[in-house]
This record gives sequence, C-alpha cells and structure tokens, in this order.
Amino acid sequence: MTASDIQAQALQLRERLREWNYRYYVLDDPSVPDAEYDQALRELQELEQANPGLVTPDSPTQRVGATPLQAFDQVEHEVPMLSLDNAFNADELQDFERRLLDRLGADPGTVSYSCEPKLDGIAVSLLYRDGMLTRGATRGDGRTGEDITRNVRTIPSIPLRLRGDGYPAVLEVRGEIYMPRAGFERLNQQARETDSKLFVNPRNAAAGSLRQLDSRITAQRNLEMCCYGVGLVEDGELPMQHSAILDLLHQWGLRINPESRVVEGIQACEDYYQYLAARRDELPYDIDGIVYKVDRIDLQRELGFVARAPRWAIARKFPAQEQTTQLLDVEFQVGRTGAITPVARLQPVFVGGVTVSNATLHNSDEIERLGVQVGDTVIVRRAGDVIPQIVSVVTERRPADARPVVFPTRCPVCGSATERAADEAVIRCMGGLVCAAQQKAAIKHFVSRRAMDVDGLGDKLVEQLVDTGLVTNVASLYHLQRSDLLQLPRMGEKSADNLLAALEESKAATLPRFIFALGIREVGEATALSLARHFGSWEKLATASEEQLLEVDDVGPVVADHLRQFFDSAESLSVVHALREAGVHWSDLEVADAQVLPLEGQTWVVTGKLEHMGRSEAKAFLQQLGAKVAGSVSARTHCVLAGPGAGSKLTHARELGIDVIDEDGFLELLSSHGLAT
Ligand code: IVH
Repeated sequence: MTASDIQAQALQLRERLREWNYRYYVLDDPSVPDAEYDQALRELQELEQANPGLVTPDSPTQRVGATPLQAFDQVEHEVPMLSLDNAFNADELQDFERRLLDRLGADPGTVSYSCEPKLDGIAVSLLYRDGMLTRGATRGDGRTGEDITRNVRTIPSIPLRLRGDGYPAVLEVRGEIYMPRAGFERLNQQARETDSKLFVNPRNAAAGSLRQLDSRITAQRNLEMCCYGVGLVEDGELPMQHSAILDLLHQWGLRINPESRVVEGIQACEDYYQYLAARRDELPYDIDGIVYKVDRIDLQRELGFVARAPRWAIARKFPAQEQTTQLLDVEFQVGRTGAITPVARLQPVFVGGVTVSNATLHNSDEIERLGVQVGDTVIVRRAGDVIPQIVSVVTERRPADARPVVFPTRCPVCGSATERAADEAVIRCMGGLVCAAQQKAAIKHFVSRRAMDVDGLGDKLVEQLVDTGLVTNVASLYHLQRSDLLQLPRMGEKSADNLLAALEESKAATLPRFIFALGIREVGEATALSLARHFGSWEKLATASEEQLLEVDDVGPVVADHLRQFFDSAESLSVVHALREAGVHWSDLEVADAQVLPLEGQTWVVTGKLEHMGRSEAKAFLQQLGAKVAGSVSARTHCVLAGPGAGSKLTHARELGIDVIDEDGFLELLSSHGLAT
C-alpha cells in the first residue's frame, strides 16, 4: 500500500466508526453488531500504530489519554452558565406564566414552550471550534468551572468532531452528563464484588466519575451526555427557536432528549408534567423534574434574566426521591425459608410521593456496610415501585445514645437456633415448619395469586388461622370446616362460605403452579415452569436424580440441591400426599421438545401502564416464555405490549409496523402457556 492508500483507509475507517457510533449513541438505533465495530476499531488502531504520523485528535482511537493529570485547570465561561428557578406545584407554574405574559403583554395560550426532562446529572459545556471538540468544562459556580476535556472525550455519545456542516465556527454546547441507571447498577455491583464503597445514587456516581484525574477511569464509567442548549456562538447563525436549535444539534451529531416536546400554553406544560411523571420510572435514567423554556428566542431576549436565572425558563420539580429521617429501631422478620431480614423502622417521612415508615436493610452485611446504628439520621431513597432503601448514614448527626444493631442469635419468632451458611449473606432460623413465621409465610405463598390463587385468603386471615392452630401447614387448609371458620373474629357466614368455595376451586391447579406454590427454595415461577415442561408429571419430577434435574434449563447445582432436599424429606412428601388426598389435582403436561420456549428468539418491549401486573412482572413472564425484553423499539422488535398512556414507543412501533398487543391479549397468551395470572 502506498502512503496515500493507507491514509485513505484510515479516513474511511474513521468515517465508518463515527457513523456507527452516531447511530448507536445518538440515534439509539445500532446499525452493526458490536463485534464488527470492535474489529474496525482494532484495524484503525493497528494502522495508526504502524503509521503514527496519521493520528488525528478526532480519531475514534483518541478518546482515552494515557497519563493522569495533576489537577484540573480553571475555565472561564464567557457566557455564564445560569441556573433555573423552581416550581414545586401547578400553582407556582401558573405564576411563572402570569409573570411572563405580563411582561410580554401576551395572552394566555399564545406562548410555546419547549418541555424537557430535567436530567439529574452534572451540567457541562462543550466547546467546538470549526467542528472540533476543543474543550469540556464543568459549570462550577457558573462563571468559572474546571477543564475536564480529557474526561468528556471518553464519553461515546459526545462527538469529537461535529457531523455535516453549517455549524458556527465557535459553538459552545451545553447539556447534562449523567449515568443511566443500568450503568449505575453495574458500577455498584462491581464495587460490591471488590468490597469497595458504593455510590449513593447515579448523580453522585456521575459527578465522581467526571472528577477523575485519570481519564482511563472515566472511560469505564458508562456516562452519557444529553444536550439542552448553547452558550457562546461566533461566526454563524442559529435558528430563532430553541427547539429548532436542539434539532440542529442533533443533526450535528449531539444527543438531545427524545422525550422533549414543544407545547402551547402553560396548561399543556402541566399535562406534559403529568404524562412524564407517570413514566418517570420507565426511563433508563433519573430525572428530577421538567424544564420549561419559552421556545422563541426573541421572546427569551425580551424577557432576560433575574440574578442567576432566566425569566424565560423554570424547572417544575418532582417529589424528591431521597430524604433524611431518623432510624427509630430495627426489627427482624422471618421469611418463608427462615431468612431473617432486618427491617428499619423510620420516623415517617414523605419521599418519592408517599409516606415511608419502613425500609429494608437486607442482611447483616448491609448493616455493616452502612455502619448504621439505631438513632442515626439516615438518607432514605424510594424510587418507583422499589422497596424503600437506606442509602447512607449522616454520621455527623449521630446522637450520643445511638446503639449498634445486634442481630439475634435465636429466631425472634420461635426461639430456634439461627445459622449462617458459609457462602450466604443470609442468617436463617433453623426451626423449619415448627416456626410459626415460616408456617405463615409458606401458607401466604401457597395461596397467593400466582400460586394456588385462593381468593379472599389474605395475610391477616392466614395469621389468624395459624395463631389459632386451625392450620399448621398448607394441606390442613383443605380440612377447614365452616364451623372452624365461624369461630374467628369478624368472620361472617358469607365470608366463610366464600372462602371454602375458593379453596375448593383452587384444587384444580396446573403442574407449574403447584410446583411454584410449594415454595421450594430458589424455585420461582420460571423454574417451576421449566421443571413442569421438562418432566411433564409430578412423579417424574419427584423421582428425578440430581443429574436429571441439572438437565433442565435454569436449574443449576444449587437449585437441584434444594429440589432433592425437598423430595428427600418425608415431611414435604407427606404434605404433598395430603394435598392430593384432599383433592388437589392437575393434568400432566406434554414434555416440551428440546426445551424450546414459545417466545424463544423474540424481542419484546413493554410500555404504558398495566392494570393486572407491574411492568417488571410482565417482563418476568416474557422472559419465562423465552423472550428478551428490550428498553426501546427498533426494527428488531417482534412485539410491543402496550398499556394505557403508552407514548413514543407505541408510536414508533406503529410506524415500523410492529405487532402491538394489549394487556388482555397478553393475559390470554400467558394462560395459553400455562402461566398464572
Ligand atoms: S437549562 C438558562 N435544560 O438543571 C438555563 N437545564 O437547575 C439553564 N438541567 O444547571 C439550564 N436538564 O444542570 C436546562 N433540559 C435542561 C436541563 C437542565 C437538566 C440542569 C442543569 C442546570 C440545572 C438548573
């Protein structure tokens, strides 16, 4: 190859890599498999290594610098980076528009606003000179920030060079660098594995990652950037609408938020708030509110600024997902498998839109990791439907009478000994079915909707039945008499009859439901289904050897061991025998061919609100049927499960002509595959 051939090849590889990168990170629409990207990048690296003279600063190989900095330089923002005023409710948002209309002498409903999710990350400025990324900086105090050029260069969604043409010679782009939740979970998982300190939330993780003097660390941190405006602009014109500027930034290769919308009037802003508030947990990143900006730039100029915030924009905040409160006590709950879980009793606090007075502390390792003591001030986080968590302790506020959390050495319910298996974080009560807590939990699980589905047998009633000694195990449920039930406080004749009828009805089970209902350790619905499909009948399952069990998809040595322990226990088998004697029955299944699951090889997307189950439940069902569940719709999506309130994903699916099914259709699909609903 001649020198000019080599150069042409390098150019071509760079061009291709840039295009693929843009498709992947900016359009969220990958065009080649990862392996092909990696291969091309390797080729370019080899070419550049052999011909160092060819390397350009905007080459995709030049994202990561090799040597750490000593310190960050300071950067002056020629155009200050402002902050935003906040509105905490609909009234404050109305006030914002009233002030603005007064100033403009305009009528309600005539001003258009750009509505944008307020990403919870770090504000940054990117400077492009002649299309080349020359500087990245933090906001700092708005006038002076830190030069983090080396770190921003490692972020794949930030182009080292703008695409296309027509951009101003000097263009300062502003936006938010953040860590998507999945990347945050991954980072903390790694930290757990290496016993390092966990990050409290994605925002702190993003901030910590950007503040690294060694950009090689930043490069590993799953950061992304979303742009929301411009600062300094020289030698070039931009459109006179904010939304049109964002569209141009997108064309030039920068990421903007696909959820942004332009609406007319403040009522439509409020509607957008409600719409996004309902979908907040579905987004792959944390947002803490919505930003509204007057879309017309001439009106923005007319409105101007007060102190450090523009009059033409406001942030409507969501209820905070983190709050501080006091840890009043720690209690210990005993679960179905005897696992003893510490539960934090908290001074009630309003967080994530509800009042929280309990949070899980998981296990003794978690208590140790947090270093939490009773009496401490703690930070509680409640995001979405997730159980509230204690994320950290404000140790400076520890009272003098704080006391360490002491794990019980005996079961708090039955007094049996406790044990911690060598390779587990959990401490268990060894009382088995002697322990009333385990009896209750086993029965609650057995009668639950996705197991035997006994209508009207709620937790309270189960507790009464066990406490009065009427029921000791799941089989004795089916021996309950009307007269037994009528002894219970607040039990009327009608409820008693209904309950007996529901018990009777539940006897017609399916094999997977029955296996799941037994509550064998580590045997969830998916595993129960695999077992039923593999063996077809209870007899074959119960007599299977460990090797035969290991042939089942999803069954590893641990699950096989739990299964064998169950089938080897005379006590368990006698309960199963008693259940069958009482009339519990099911039909055997046809043994599935070579374990091909019905939705094997398909990719599904779940969106909108579901009535009968949470989205995560729907996802779990899909996975049980062999489908992959993706976060966004693409040409490769097979089907979208859409509930009310579904937004852009549904629209996108319709555009692409992808199958869409509603919840009723989905429930039918589930029941046709023997799945409980
Ligand atoms: S506009 C003059 N747009 O919120 C307008 N800010 O509280 C200045 N933020 O420092 C900012 N998403 O870090 C704007 N779509 C968005 C935003 C956004 C997040 C952050 C940004 C800013 C802070 C202001």
